[in-house]
Amino acid sequence: MSKPKIILTGDRPTGRLHIGHYVGSLRRRVELQDSGEFDKIFIMIADAQALTDNADNPEKVRQNITEVALDYLAAGLDPAKSTMFIQSQVSELTELTFFYNNLVTVQRLQRNPTVKAEIQMRGFNDDESADNKAGIPVGFFCYPISQAADITAFKATTVPVGEDQEPMIEQTREIVRKFNSTYAPVLVEPEILLPDRAACLRLPGTDGKAKMSKSLGNCIYLADDEETVRKKVMSMYTDPNHIQVSDPGKVEGNTVFTYLDAFCKPGHFAMFWPDYANLDEVKDHYRRGGLGDVKVKKFLNSVLQDTLRPIRERRIEFSKDIPYVYEVLKKGSEVARETAAQTLAEVKRAMKINYFEPGVLDTLIQEVQAKYK
Ligand code: TRP
Repeated sequence: MSKPKIILTGDRPTGRLHIGHYVGSLRRRVELQDSGEFDKIFIMIADAQALTDNADNPEKVRQNITEVALDYLAAGLDPAKSTMFIQSQVSELTELTFFYNNLVTVQRLQRNPTVKAEIQMRGFNDDESADNKAGIPVGFFCYPISQAADITAFKATTVPVGEDQEPMIEQTREIVRKFNSTYAPVLVEPEILLPDRAACLRLPGTDGKAKMSKSLGNCIYLADDEETVRKKVMSMYTDPNHIQVSDPGKVEGNTVFTYLDAFCKPGHFAMFWPDYANLDEVKDHYRRGGLGDVKVKKFLNSVLQDTLRPIRERRIEFSKDIPYVYEVLKKGSEVARETAAQTLAEVKRAMKINYFEPGVLDTLIQEVQAKYK
């Protein structure tokens, strides 16, 4: 029998999901879900991880659990095929984390480039006097270990995430190898599954900045209405040197084209812009000069509306039935808990800290009795 193929992935509920999440992960998850190639799929709302740098704002995290769940359902994740659950409701994960903590050094954590960048971004290293946030919360510093627990608890073979999560998967693999060689081969080494189209690796913000982020105010959200999306598209960053329509334009680093690379499908030309057969033709014309930003933006708006409309409509439908949304999360969390509990039991067995498991206690008693004879 070949090893079951299991997916685990998730998101921190710190805000609504935007189209960067959609091209970077959500769209792919739905495809993987519908491919029928996976035996089990777990999608986790990582509220406990979100709290590692939001300890003072559990309310924000709590509110965004429903937002993210609505985004999941709207994007097409189907509870019949994918188990959606809330991280904090699976206490086995924190127990695993505690044991994995012993397999990782502080020095190794300090080398994690994503955590390093996040520490920088959040100003945790700033002068103590700067504000009360100075200093790195221990929980935040260690979250790669908790993420290893998330992944291994479900014996995930495949973790579809963005490139920024690569260091987490690498650390997880190290923990798995360390655990398996120290105790017993219980854990499964996961593989990362990166987004497939180059443009989707990381969608820039509408202002052309490297990353879409709520704090920069440069996101298009899955929940945005039609007019909001249109406004955001029409004010997008393009090529600052493309001033006159007749000027030659740059496609590289031009956010409008980056978005088209990520969203445009062949059928969109016949539907919205029959003057061109494909995106290459549009790009060529733009490079030559004579094609204005407004036209390209209008096309991008049509493409985005076409993609986002069904998602938006489903989101509105699901938002009318919040009890259902919570039912999905509650059931999912129960299923996740059962799975994680099995792995935790195996882990404890491998570490021989399963003292009171049936059969084990008798042997233990005999051992200690023999010692004291
Ligand atoms: N770190 C991920 C993020 O910021 C969320 C996450 C937590 C996750 N645990 C995970 C992703 C396990 C994949 C696997 O989006």
